[in-house]
Amino acid sequence: YRGLKVALLGAGSVGSQVARLLLEHADELASRAGASLELIGIAVRDVDAPRDVDLPKELYTTDAEQLILSADIVIELIGGIEPARSHILQAINAGADIVTANKALLATHGPELFDAAEQVGAQLYYEAAVAAAIPIIRPLRESLAGDRINRVLGIVNGSTNYMLDRMDRFGDTMEDAAAVASELGYLEADPTLDVEGYDAAQKATILASLAFHTTVPVEAVHREGITGITKAQVDLARSEGYVIKLLAIAERIVDETTGEEGLSARVYPALIGREHPLAAVHGGNNAVFVEAENAGSLMFYGAGAGGKETASAVLGDLVSAARRHVAGGPGVGESTHADLPVLEIGRVTTRY
Ligand code: HSE
Repeated sequence: YRGLKVALLGAGSVGSQVARLLLEHADELASRAGASLELIGIAVRDVDAPRDVDLPKELYTTDAEQLILSADIVIELIGGIEPARSHILQAINAGADIVTANKALLATHGPELFDAAEQVGAQLYYEAAVAAAIPIIRPLRESLAGDRINRVLGIVNGSTNYMLDRMDRFGDTMEDAAAVASELGYLEADPTLDVEGYDAAQKATILASLAFHTTVPVEAVHREGITGITKAQVDLARSEGYVIKLLAIAERIVDETTGEEGLSARVYPALIGREHPLAAVHGGNNAVFVEAENAGSLMFYGAGAGGKETASAVLGDLVSAARRHVAGGPGVGESTHADLPVLEIGRVTTRY
C-alpha cells in the first residue's frame, strides 16, 4: 500500500474514539482505503489532561501547526470557530484534505473554507457534522444531486431529543435529563448550544445549503430552543396525543404576500402526533426526512450523537479522502452560489 499520514486535531469524546479505532482497525481501514493510514499525531491543548481512551503518550503534541505540515489528511475535531478555522485553512493551503465534524464552523464559515479548498483542489468531508452516525451529507450532496428537494425536516440534535424523551417517557425534570445526556457525551461543551437550538440551527444551515444548492446563513434560521419547555407542557401534550420534539425544517416556500419564491429554515419545539414516525425517535437518536420531487419521501434514522457513533462517520470520510488521494481524482464540489433567497417567516406550523 501507499502510506498516507493522518493528523488528528482534538482528543475529546469523538477524537479519542477516532484515534482508538484508527489504531485498532488499521489493517481493515487500509484495505478499504487502498492506502495505509498512519496516525502521525494528535494535537491537544494539554498533553497530560485525563482522556476517555488510553492512547500512546507519544502521539500527543501541543504543536498543531507542525503536525499539520506533515499530514496528507487532517481530521479536525476541536470544534468551535478558532483555532479550528485557522488550522483548517493552514491544512488546505499545505495541500491536505480535511475531515471535520465542526458544524459551528461550517455553518458560519462554510463558503470561506469551500472556496479555499476549491482554489487548491483540496476536499472537505463533513459527514459527521450533522446527525453523527447517520449518512445524510452524502445523500444530499451526491445521491440526490439529480433530483429537486422540496423539504428537509427532522430531529437533528441528540441531546435535546434525549432530554425531551426522558421527560415524556420517564417523568424526568429537564435538569435530571440534562445530567444524563451530559454523562453520555451528547451535550456540547457549552450546553447552551444544544438547549437554545443553536446546534440544530447550525445543522439546519448545513442541510439547507446542500439540499437547495445555496448558502443559507445561520442568522437566517429562525431559532427557538427548549429551555422554556416545562414538564407540565410535556404532560399536557401527551394527554392530547402529542409529543414535543425540537424540529429543524428547511423548505421551499412562496411568500404569500409578494409571491416571491425562496426557502425558509426554522428550528423550534413542535407538537408531533403520536402516530408520526418522528414521535418514535427516542433517546439520542436523530431522524431526517427528505422530500424530493422524484425520489419522494426518504427517512434517515439513527444515532445522532455520541463518541463512537460520530467517529464512525469521521472514519467513513477518512476512507473517502484516502481513496481520492490514491485515485488522484477530483473531489465533489460544493454549490455556494445563492439561487434561492432565504425568506424569514419564523414559526409557521407547530403541529406535525
Ligand atoms: N450536541 C450534539 C447533539 C452532538 O446533541 O446532537 C452531536 O452533534
